[in-house]
Amino acid sequence: MKPRDTSEPLPPPPAAAEAYLGDQLGLMTAFGDHLADTGVSHGLIGPREVPRLWDRHILNCAVVTELLAPEERVADVGSGAGLPGLVIAIARPDLHVTLIEPLLRRVTWLENVCDDLHLSNVTVVRSRAEQCTDIEVDVVTSRAVARLDTLSGWSLPLLRAGGRMLALKGSSAQEEVDEARADLEALGGRRIEVLSVGAGVVDPPTAIVRVEIDERVARTSPKKKKNGSSPSRRAARRKRQQRNENRRK
Ligand SMILES: C[S@@+](CC[C@H](N)C(=O)[O-])C[C@H]1O[C@@H](n2cnc3c(N)ncnc32)[C@H](O)[C@@H]1O
Repeated sequence: MKPRDTSEPLPPPPAAAEAYLGDQLGLMTAFGDHLADTGVSHGLIGPREVPRLWDRHILNCAVVTELLAPEERVADVGSGAGLPGLVIAIARPDLHVTLIEPLLRRVTWLENVCDDLHLSNVTVVRSRAEQCTDIEVDVVTSRAVARLDTLSGWSLPLLRAGGRMLALKGSSAQEEVDEARADLEALGGRRIEVLSVGAGVVDPPTAIVRVEIDERVARTSPKKKKNGSSPSRRAARRKRQQRNENRRK
């Protein structure tokens, strides 16, 4: 897929991008060109995002790689325009990244970009995350896909025992954790915390909700349940509703 001429090109990379991405800067710039061009014309990102693609999108996502060990398997839920999944795959060629995205138009765009950039460490899967019963990875990432309680129901079942979910969130990260903690724990989530990543690279740093899943629960995850939530999830939800009611009183 050859990027066509565009009236609003990708701005030059900021100094932080050059320092942070090293040898991968050229490939990341080529990805940014796709975002600024067909990403906009195909409706995957808004035209007003182009001037801030580096800070708000590419670097905001690239800093997640600080939390990834060498050669890990990563699944990115709701990749959209490859954020953060493609950014992670480009920044860290040692990783294998599976992009999970249900919308055909977006999947086609992602596949074309991967072909054009010759990315051999990416698999694109057209599916809703909750229907991906045969995926098992070390890390599940996501950005701007769903609230934490819903998102954890989609993400945690994709993890191997001992794996972790990394959800990029905005300033509401801690509030969402407080609200969803019971749901997360009912799904086997442990060591739930909000991390601030990328100080000195992006401003503000990226807020990431990190949740680990323990061995026992990973194997008996409610993922396979077809209809709605598990009894423990329902109990957690009732507790949360009760807590919210008490707060209102
Ligand atoms: C607001 S977009 C965010 C895209 C990208 N992560 C970003 O930060 O720009 C949400 C994406 O999640 C996808 N999505 C919605 N429900 C999903 C599900 N159940 N499983 C996987 N992806 C889903 C949508 O198709 C959409 O591409």
